[in-house]
Amino acid sequence: MTVRRFPEGFLWGAATAAHQVEGNNVNSDWWVREHAPGTDLAEPSGDAADSYHRYPEDIALLASLGLNTYRFSIEWARIEPEQGYVSKAQLQHYRRMVDTCREHGLTPSVTLHHFTHPRWFARLGGWRNPVAPDLFARYTEAVLPVLGDDVEWVCTINEPNMVAMTRGEEGTEMTASRLPAPDPQITDALIAGHRRSREVLSGVGQVRSGWSVATQAYHPATPDAVEATAAYGYPREDVFLDAAAGDDWIGVQAYLRTFIDRDGNPQPVADDVEKTLIGWEYFPPALGIGVRNAWRRTGGVPVVVTENGIATQDDARRIDYTHDALVGLHDAMADGIDVRGYLHWSALDNYEWGSYAPTFGLIAWDRETFARTPKPSAHWLGGVARTGELTH
Ligand code: NOJ
Repeated sequence: MTVRRFPEGFLWGAATAAHQVEGNNVNSDWWVREHAPGTDLAEPSGDAADSYHRYPEDIALLASLGLNTYRFSIEWARIEPEQGYVSKAQLQHYRRMVDTCREHGLTPSVTLHHFTHPRWFARLGGWRNPVAPDLFARYTEAVLPVLGDDVEWVCTINEPNMVAMTRGEEGTEMTASRLPAPDPQITDALIAGHRRSREVLSGVGQVRSGWSVATQAYHPATPDAVEATAAYGYPREDVFLDAAAGDDWIGVQAYLRTFIDRDGNPQPVADDVEKTLIGWEYFPPALGIGVRNAWRRTGGVPVVVTENGIATQDDARRIDYTHDALVGLHDAMADGIDVRGYLHWSALDNYEWGSYAPTFGLIAWDRETFARTPKPSAHWLGGVARTGELTH
Protein backbone atom coordinates (compact mmCIF):
# COMPACT_ATOMS: atom_id res chain seq x y z
CA MET A 1 0.00 0.00 0.00
CA THR A 2 1.31 3.43 -0.94
CA VAL A 3 0.85 6.20 1.63
CA ARG A 4 1.28 9.79 0.52
CA ARG A 5 1.70 12.29 3.36
CA PHE A 6 0.75 15.94 3.06
CA PRO A 7 2.41 18.58 5.27
CA GLU A 8 1.21 19.72 8.68
CA GLY A 9 -0.95 22.82 8.43
CA PHE A 10 -2.11 21.97 4.91
CA LEU A 11 -5.45 23.61 4.15
CA TRP A 12 -8.04 20.90 3.49
CA GLY A 13 -11.38 22.27 2.61
CA ALA A 14 -14.31 22.76 0.32
CA ALA A 15 -15.51 25.79 -1.61
CA THR A 16 -18.73 27.53 -2.59
CA ALA A 17 -19.65 30.83 -4.22
CA ALA A 18 -22.38 33.12 -2.93
CA HIS A 19 -24.62 33.14 -5.98
CA GLN A 20 -24.43 29.37 -6.35
CA VAL A 21 -25.58 28.47 -2.84
CA GLU A 22 -27.09 31.44 -1.02
CA GLY A 23 -30.38 31.84 -2.87
CA ASN A 24 -32.37 34.93 -3.87
CA ASN A 25 -29.44 37.00 -4.95
CA VAL A 26 -31.93 39.33 -6.58
CA ASN A 27 -29.79 42.42 -6.91
CA SER A 28 -27.14 40.73 -9.06
CA ASP A 29 -26.64 40.81 -12.81
CA TRP A 30 -26.94 37.01 -12.86
CA TRP A 31 -30.42 37.10 -11.36
CA VAL A 32 -31.38 39.56 -14.11
CA ARG A 33 -29.99 37.21 -16.74
CA GLU A 34 -31.81 34.22 -15.24
CA HIS A 35 -35.13 36.05 -15.47
CA ALA A 36 -34.66 37.84 -18.78
CA PRO A 37 -37.29 36.95 -21.38
CA GLY A 38 -35.92 34.22 -23.63
CA THR A 39 -32.94 33.56 -21.38
CA ASP A 40 -30.51 30.94 -22.63
CA LEU A 41 -30.24 29.41 -19.15
CA ALA A 42 -32.00 26.13 -18.34
CA GLU A 43 -33.32 27.29 -14.95
CA PRO A 44 -32.94 30.16 -12.47
CA SER A 45 -31.02 29.93 -9.20
CA GLY A 46 -34.06 30.65 -6.98
CA ASP A 47 -33.50 29.66 -3.37
CA ALA A 48 -30.32 27.79 -4.30
CA ALA A 49 -29.24 25.78 -1.22
CA ASP A 50 -30.52 28.55 1.07
CA SER A 51 -27.02 28.81 2.51
CA TYR A 52 -27.61 32.50 3.15
CA HIS A 53 -29.62 31.29 6.14
CA ARG A 54 -28.20 27.81 6.60
CA TYR A 55 -24.47 28.65 6.64
CA PRO A 56 -24.13 27.76 10.35
CA GLU A 57 -25.29 24.24 9.56
CA ASP A 58 -23.05 24.01 6.48
CA ILE A 59 -19.99 25.18 8.36
CA ALA A 60 -20.66 22.85 11.29
CA LEU A 61 -21.07 19.96 8.86
CA LEU A 62 -17.79 20.66 7.05
CA ALA A 63 -15.98 20.79 10.38
CA SER A 64 -17.58 17.58 11.61
CA LEU A 65 -16.42 15.82 8.45
CA GLY A 66 -12.81 16.65 9.30
CA LEU A 67 -12.11 19.51 6.91
CA ASN A 68 -10.23 22.53 8.26
CA THR A 69 -11.00 25.27 5.70
CA TYR A 70 -14.11 26.78 4.12
CA ARG A 71 -13.83 28.89 1.00
CA PHE A 72 -16.83 31.12 0.38
CA SER A 73 -17.46 34.38 -1.42
CA ILE A 74 -18.84 37.73 -0.35
CA GLU A 75 -21.63 38.97 -2.60
CA TRP A 76 -20.87 42.44 -3.91
CA ALA A 77 -24.55 42.91 -4.87
CA ARG A 78 -25.53 42.51 -1.21
CA ILE A 79 -22.70 44.58 0.28
CA GLU A 80 -23.19 47.51 -2.10
CA PRO A 81 -26.76 47.24 -3.41
CA GLU A 82 -26.55 50.75 -4.86
CA GLN A 83 -23.37 52.49 -5.90
CA GLY A 84 -21.68 53.97 -2.84
CA TYR A 85 -24.26 52.64 -0.37
CA VAL A 86 -22.71 49.98 1.87
CA SER A 87 -25.01 47.77 3.91
CA LYS A 88 -23.81 47.39 7.51
CA ALA A 89 -26.16 44.49 8.06
CA GLN A 90 -24.65 42.57 5.14
CA LEU A 91 -21.13 43.27 6.39
CA GLN A 92 -22.21 41.78 9.70
CA HIS A 93 -23.72 38.79 7.96
CA TYR A 94 -20.43 37.88 6.27
CA ARG A 95 -18.47 38.65 9.43
CA ARG A 96 -20.71 36.17 11.26
CA MET A 97 -19.75 33.57 8.65
CA VAL A 98 -16.10 34.19 9.47
CA ASP A 99 -16.82 33.95 13.19
CA THR A 100 -18.79 30.74 12.69
CA CYS A 101 -15.85 29.23 10.82
CA ARG A 102 -13.61 30.15 13.73
CA GLU A 103 -16.00 28.70 16.30
CA HIS A 104 -15.77 25.39 14.47
CA GLY A 105 -12.02 25.54 14.01
CA LEU A 106 -12.23 26.21 10.27
CA THR A 107 -9.93 28.61 8.46
CA PRO A 108 -12.00 30.99 6.33
CA SER A 109 -10.82 31.56 2.77
CA VAL A 110 -12.70 34.55 1.42
CA THR A 111 -13.31 35.46 -2.22
CA LEU A 112 -14.35 39.03 -2.98
CA HIS A 113 -15.64 38.56 -6.53
CA HIS A 114 -17.03 35.30 -7.88
CA PHE A 115 -18.60 36.05 -11.29
CA THR A 116 -21.55 38.18 -10.13
CA HIS A 117 -21.90 41.97 -9.99
CA PRO A 118 -24.45 44.36 -8.57
CA ARG A 119 -27.01 45.45 -11.15
CA TRP A 120 -25.76 49.03 -11.00
CA PHE A 121 -22.21 47.91 -11.88
CA ALA A 122 -23.50 45.99 -14.90
CA ARG A 123 -25.58 49.02 -15.96
CA LEU A 124 -22.42 51.14 -15.93
CA GLY A 125 -20.91 48.76 -18.49
CA GLY A 126 -19.23 46.40 -16.03
CA TRP A 127 -15.51 45.90 -16.57
CA ARG A 128 -15.68 47.90 -19.79
CA ASN A 129 -16.15 51.07 -17.82
CA PRO A 130 -12.71 52.67 -17.20
CA VAL A 131 -13.62 53.32 -13.57
CA ALA A 132 -14.36 49.61 -12.90
CA PRO A 133 -10.98 48.90 -11.20
CA ASP A 134 -11.58 51.90 -8.88
CA LEU A 135 -15.08 50.71 -8.08
CA PHE A 136 -13.72 47.28 -7.24
CA ALA A 137 -11.01 48.82 -5.02
CA ARG A 138 -13.70 50.79 -3.19
CA TYR A 139 -15.75 47.65 -2.68
CA THR A 140 -12.60 45.96 -1.33
CA GLU A 141 -12.23 48.81 1.18
CA ALA A 142 -15.87 48.43 2.15
CA VAL A 143 -15.48 44.75 3.04
CA LEU A 144 -12.43 45.19 5.27
CA PRO A 145 -14.62 44.90 8.40
CA VAL A 146 -15.49 41.37 7.30
CA LEU A 147 -11.81 40.47 7.16
CA GLY A 148 -11.17 42.03 10.59
CA ASP A 149 -7.76 41.25 12.01
CA ASP A 150 -7.90 37.52 11.47
CA VAL A 151 -8.87 36.54 7.91
CA GLU A 152 -5.66 35.55 6.18
CA TRP A 153 -6.62 34.02 2.85
CA VAL A 154 -8.26 36.46 0.48
CA CYS A 155 -8.94 35.91 -3.22
CA THR A 156 -9.66 39.14 -5.06
CA ILE A 157 -11.26 37.79 -8.24
CA ASN A 158 -12.28 34.24 -9.02
CA GLU A 159 -11.34 33.01 -12.49
CA PRO A 160 -10.72 36.40 -14.11
CA ASN A 161 -9.92 34.53 -17.31
CA MET A 162 -13.43 33.09 -17.41
CA VAL A 163 -14.84 36.56 -16.78
CA ALA A 164 -12.80 37.92 -19.72
CA MET A 165 -13.88 35.04 -21.95
CA THR A 166 -17.55 35.27 -21.12
CA ARG A 167 -17.29 39.08 -21.08
CA GLY A 168 -19.72 39.26 -18.23
CA GLU A 169 -22.42 39.60 -20.84
CA GLU A 170 -25.50 37.64 -21.66
CA GLY A 171 -25.52 34.80 -24.09
CA THR A 172 -22.16 33.24 -23.36
CA GLU A 173 -21.68 29.94 -21.63
CA MET A 174 -19.92 30.26 -18.26
CA THR A 175 -18.34 26.84 -18.01
CA ALA A 176 -17.87 25.46 -21.50
CA SER A 177 -14.44 24.35 -22.57
CA ARG A 178 -14.92 26.07 -25.94
CA LEU A 179 -15.04 29.74 -25.24
CA PRO A 180 -14.23 32.84 -27.25
CA ALA A 181 -10.82 34.41 -26.78
CA PRO A 182 -10.70 36.73 -23.75
CA ASP A 183 -11.63 40.32 -24.41
CA PRO A 184 -8.33 42.28 -24.12
CA GLN A 185 -10.03 45.36 -22.64
CA ILE A 186 -11.68 43.30 -19.93
CA THR A 187 -8.47 41.35 -19.32
CA ASP A 188 -6.63 44.61 -18.64
CA ALA A 189 -9.42 45.92 -16.44
CA LEU A 190 -9.47 42.76 -14.33
CA ILE A 191 -5.71 42.82 -13.89
CA ALA A 192 -5.92 46.49 -12.87
CA GLY A 193 -8.82 45.71 -10.52
CA HIS A 194 -6.84 42.90 -8.94
CA ARG A 195 -3.83 45.15 -8.40
CA ARG A 196 -5.93 47.96 -6.94
CA SER A 197 -7.68 45.53 -4.65
CA ARG A 198 -4.36 44.06 -3.52
CA GLU A 199 -3.09 47.54 -2.69
CA VAL A 200 -6.06 48.03 -0.39
CA LEU A 201 -5.55 44.61 1.18
CA SER A 202 -1.85 45.21 1.72
CA GLY A 203 -2.87 47.65 4.44
CA VAL A 204 -4.35 44.78 6.44
CA GLY A 205 -1.49 43.11 8.26
CA GLN A 206 -2.53 39.48 8.32
CA VAL A 207 -4.04 39.26 4.83
CA ARG A 208 -2.37 37.16 2.16
CA SER A 209 -3.98 37.96 -1.14
CA GLY A 210 -4.01 36.38 -4.56
CA TRP A 211 -6.45 35.38 -7.24
CA SER A 212 -7.66 32.12 -8.68
CA VAL A 213 -7.14 31.25 -12.32
CA ALA A 214 -9.10 28.65 -14.28
CA THR A 215 -6.44 26.33 -15.61
CA GLN A 216 -6.87 23.70 -18.28
CA ALA A 217 -4.49 21.04 -19.45
CA TYR A 218 -4.13 22.36 -23.00
CA HIS A 219 -2.77 19.51 -25.05
CA PRO A 220 -1.59 19.52 -28.69
CA ALA A 221 -3.89 17.26 -30.72
CA THR A 222 -0.99 16.36 -33.00
CA PRO A 223 2.80 16.81 -32.67
CA ASP A 224 2.73 19.79 -35.04
CA ALA A 225 0.18 21.61 -32.85
CA VAL A 226 2.58 22.51 -30.04
CA GLU A 227 2.96 26.17 -31.00
CA ALA A 228 -0.74 26.62 -31.72
CA THR A 229 -1.52 25.13 -28.31
CA ALA A 230 0.80 27.56 -26.53
CA ALA A 231 -0.70 30.45 -28.50
CA TYR A 232 -4.19 29.31 -27.55
CA GLY A 233 -3.40 29.00 -23.83
CA TYR A 234 -1.48 32.26 -23.48
CA PRO A 235 -4.33 34.83 -23.50
CA ARG A 236 -6.75 32.41 -21.82
CA GLU A 237 -4.57 31.46 -18.89
CA ASP A 238 -0.91 32.43 -18.85
CA VAL A 239 -1.51 36.20 -19.02
CA PHE A 240 -3.47 35.93 -15.78
CA LEU A 241 -0.82 33.77 -14.12
CA ASP A 242 1.92 36.19 -15.21
CA ALA A 243 -0.01 39.05 -13.63
CA ALA A 244 0.12 37.21 -10.31
CA ALA A 245 3.90 36.96 -10.17
CA GLY A 246 4.16 39.24 -7.13
CA ASP A 247 1.13 37.91 -5.27
CA ASP A 248 1.23 36.16 -1.89
CA TRP A 249 -0.27 33.04 -3.45
CA ILE A 250 -1.81 31.88 -6.71
CA GLY A 251 -5.07 29.96 -6.82
CA VAL A 252 -5.27 27.05 -9.24
CA GLN A 253 -8.65 25.73 -10.35
CA ALA A 254 -8.34 22.64 -12.49
CA TYR A 255 -10.86 20.21 -13.91
CA LEU A 256 -10.23 19.21 -17.49
CA ARG A 257 -8.08 18.80 -20.56
CA THR A 258 -8.63 20.32 -23.99
CA PHE A 259 -6.91 19.26 -27.18
CA ILE A 260 -5.92 22.02 -29.61
CA ASP A 261 -5.26 21.37 -33.30
CA ARG A 262 -2.52 22.92 -35.44
CA ASP A 263 -4.84 25.75 -36.49
CA GLY A 264 -5.51 26.66 -32.87
CA ASN A 265 -8.99 25.15 -32.66
CA PRO A 266 -10.12 23.33 -29.53
CA GLN A 267 -11.30 19.81 -30.32
CA PRO A 268 -14.57 18.36 -29.08
CA VAL A 269 -14.19 15.62 -26.46
CA ALA A 270 -13.86 12.31 -28.31
CA ASP A 271 -16.90 10.02 -28.29
CA ASP A 272 -15.14 7.10 -26.63
CA VAL A 273 -13.86 9.15 -23.68
CA GLU A 274 -15.54 9.21 -20.25
CA LYS A 275 -17.33 12.52 -19.76
CA THR A 276 -18.63 14.18 -16.62
CA LEU A 277 -22.13 15.62 -16.27
CA ILE A 278 -20.93 18.93 -17.65
CA GLY A 279 -19.47 17.33 -20.78
CA TRP A 280 -15.84 17.66 -19.75
CA GLU A 281 -13.36 14.82 -20.15
CA TYR A 282 -12.78 12.83 -16.97
CA PHE A 283 -9.14 13.79 -16.52
CA PRO A 284 -7.77 13.96 -12.94
CA PRO A 285 -4.15 14.74 -14.02
CA ALA A 286 -5.42 18.24 -14.96
CA LEU A 287 -4.70 19.30 -11.38
CA GLY A 288 -1.01 18.39 -11.31
CA ILE A 289 -0.55 19.93 -14.77
CA GLY A 290 -2.29 23.18 -13.73
CA VAL A 291 -0.27 23.48 -10.53
CA ARG A 292 3.03 22.93 -12.33
CA ASN A 293 2.18 25.53 -14.98
CA ALA A 294 1.11 28.10 -12.37
CA TRP A 295 4.30 27.58 -10.39
CA ARG A 296 6.44 27.97 -13.51
CA ARG A 297 4.67 31.05 -14.88
CA THR A 298 4.60 32.91 -11.57
CA GLY A 299 8.24 32.12 -10.85
CA GLY A 300 7.49 30.17 -7.69
CA VAL A 301 4.52 31.83 -6.02
CA PRO A 302 2.98 29.46 -3.40
CA VAL A 303 -0.02 27.64 -4.81
CA VAL A 304 -3.42 27.05 -3.24
CA VAL A 305 -5.75 24.72 -5.07
CA THR A 306 -8.91 26.75 -4.68
CA GLU A 307 -11.07 24.43 -6.80
CA ASN A 308 -10.98 20.92 -8.19
CA GLY A 309 -13.79 18.43 -8.49
CA ILE A 310 -16.19 16.60 -10.74
CA ALA A 311 -19.84 16.89 -11.78
CA THR A 312 -21.25 13.40 -11.34
CA GLN A 313 -24.10 11.43 -9.80
CA ASP A 314 -21.70 8.54 -9.28
CA ASP A 315 -20.12 9.44 -5.96
CA ALA A 316 -17.64 6.55 -6.12
CA ARG A 317 -16.32 8.17 -9.29
CA ARG A 318 -15.97 11.45 -7.37
CA ILE A 319 -13.71 9.67 -4.91
CA ASP A 320 -11.67 8.11 -7.74
CA TYR A 321 -11.31 11.48 -9.45
CA THR A 322 -10.30 13.30 -6.30
CA HIS A 323 -7.91 10.57 -5.25
CA ASP A 324 -6.13 10.62 -8.59
CA ALA A 325 -6.04 14.42 -8.70
CA LEU A 326 -4.44 14.41 -5.24
CA VAL A 327 -1.83 11.90 -6.43
CA GLY A 328 -0.85 14.37 -9.16
CA LEU A 329 -0.79 17.18 -6.63
CA HIS A 330 1.39 15.21 -4.25
CA ASP A 331 3.80 14.36 -7.07
CA ALA A 332 4.11 18.07 -7.88
CA MET A 333 4.84 18.79 -4.21
CA ALA A 334 7.42 16.00 -4.13
CA ASP A 335 9.11 17.82 -7.03
CA GLY A 336 9.45 20.91 -4.84
CA ILE A 337 6.33 22.93 -5.64
CA ASP A 338 5.06 24.83 -2.61
CA VAL A 339 1.36 23.97 -2.33
CA ARG A 340 -0.51 25.26 0.72
CA GLY A 341 -3.89 23.65 0.39
CA TYR A 342 -6.57 21.75 -1.49
CA LEU A 343 -10.11 23.15 -1.50
CA HIS A 344 -12.58 20.88 -3.23
CA TRP A 345 -15.31 22.15 -5.52
CA SER A 346 -17.80 21.98 -4.12
CA ALA A 347 -18.98 21.75 -0.54
CA LEU A 348 -22.59 21.48 -1.69
CA ASP A 349 -24.40 20.63 -4.90
CA ASN A 350 -25.16 24.05 -6.32
CA TYR A 351 -26.31 26.27 -9.14
CA GLU A 352 -23.91 25.64 -11.97
CA TRP A 353 -24.48 28.94 -13.81
CA GLY A 354 -27.70 27.95 -15.53
CA SER A 355 -28.60 24.56 -14.15
CA TYR A 356 -28.69 22.42 -11.03
CA ALA A 357 -28.04 19.26 -13.07
CA PRO A 358 -24.23 19.13 -12.85
CA THR A 359 -23.79 18.01 -9.24
CA PHE A 360 -20.32 18.90 -7.97
CA GLY A 361 -21.08 18.65 -4.24
CA LEU A 362 -19.66 16.60 -1.41
CA ILE A 363 -22.99 17.28 0.27
CA ALA A 364 -26.43 16.78 -1.29
CA TRP A 365 -29.56 18.63 -0.16
CA ASP A 366 -33.26 18.13 -0.63
CA ARG A 367 -34.83 20.60 -3.10
CA GLU A 368 -37.97 20.88 -0.93
CA THR A 369 -36.68 20.78 2.66
CA PHE A 370 -33.04 21.83 2.10
CA ALA A 371 -31.99 18.99 4.43
CA ARG A 372 -28.29 18.26 3.95
CA THR A 373 -26.86 14.77 3.38
CA PRO A 374 -23.10 14.29 3.13
CA LYS A 375 -22.11 11.86 0.39
CA PRO A 376 -19.53 9.08 0.95
CA SER A 377 -16.97 11.33 -0.81
CA ALA A 378 -17.43 13.93 1.94
CA HIS A 379 -16.52 11.38 4.59
CA TRP A 380 -13.67 10.11 2.45
CA LEU A 381 -12.13 13.58 1.92
CA GLY A 382 -12.67 14.38 5.59
CA GLY A 383 -10.64 11.27 6.44
CA VAL A 384 -7.80 12.39 4.17
CA ALA A 385 -7.91 15.81 5.85
CA ARG A 386 -7.89 14.36 9.38
CA THR A 387 -4.92 12.08 8.78
CA GLY A 388 -3.08 14.17 6.18
CA GLU A 389 -2.57 10.88 4.35
CA LEU A 390 -3.70 9.62 1.00
CA THR A 391 -3.62 5.84 0.83
CA HIS A 392 -4.18 3.52 -2.07
C1 NOJ B 1 -15.26 27.29 -11.62
C2 NOJ B 1 -16.10 28.31 -10.95
O1 NOJ B 1 -15.35 29.12 -10.11
C3 NOJ B 1 -17.31 27.74 -10.23
O2 NOJ B 1 -18.18 28.79 -9.98
C4 NOJ B 1 -17.92 26.64 -11.04
O3 NOJ B 1 -19.11 26.17 -10.47
C5 NOJ B 1 -16.92 25.51 -11.17
N1 NOJ B 1 -15.69 25.99 -11.77
C6 NOJ B 1 -17.42 24.33 -11.98
O4 NOJ B 1 -17.70 24.73 -13.26
